[in-house]
Amino acid sequence: IKMKKITIAIDGFSSCGKSTMAKDLAKEVGYIYIDSGAMYRAVTLYSIENGIFNGNTIDTEKLKQDIKNIRISFKLNPETGRPDTHLNGVNVESKIRSMEVSSKVSPISALDFVREAMVAQQQVMGKEKGIVMDGRDIGTTVFPDAELKIFVTASPEIRAQRRYDELKAKGQKASFDEILENVKQRDYMDQHREVSPLRKAEDALLLDNTNLTIEQQKKWLFEQFNKITG
Ligand code: DC
Repeated sequence: IKMKKITIAIDGFSSCGKSTMAKDLAKEVGYIYIDSGAMYRAVTLYSIENGIFNGNTIDTEKLKQDIKNIRISFKLNPETGRPDTHLNGVNVESKIRSMEVSSKVSPISALDFVREAMVAQQQVMGKEKGIVMDGRDIGTTVFPDAELKIFVTASPEIRAQRRYDELKAKGQKASFDEILENVKQRDYMDQHREVSPLRKAEDALLLDNTNLTIEQQKKWLFEQFNKITG
């Protein structure tokens, strides 16, 4: 039986497990998975590497010029079975997860012309439906007509702990306090920026996963998916 394809928008705070659940669902149901945060991270990395982000200042004029030449794509990594982020053809998956990029991505993602360019690319990626995209503004701005919208939250402490464990597992240096501070700072900036601030779409389902295991969360998400496509 051929099931109808839908669009799934998963939004929420940083490090709340959005991408884990989005990836798992996409894999299970044969949908495309797009990590929209990775796109803002790639623009941030580009800005750091090309002298646009210097200390605390951003050369917005240069970034405005360059944004049309920033190509972001996702290619399946056969070793991990997951899509890796490519910036102008170079695999930057590991670089975009560094603390430096994490601490600089909020101001970059607050720039209206950066958001416009990313949202346009995201909408092209979702044209055919059959897509799971996670981010901050997917249910509100990128795909306001998505059939399934989820808004995920968890306490800042548990999110910092998860990110700490993730970095440690990859053998990267990490300080829990620094990560917690970064999580709180980004929460604030993501919710208070002028353009597309992080907020729950009215028709999004709320999921607080502070006390849920990955398995419990997965089960809940499949139930929501099956209700709609059923
Ligand atoms: O999900 P993440 O932590 O990888 O996202 C990195 C940053 O990008 C986050 O601080 C907010 C921003 N972002 C955004 O503004 N809009 C999105 N759709 C996704 C991420």
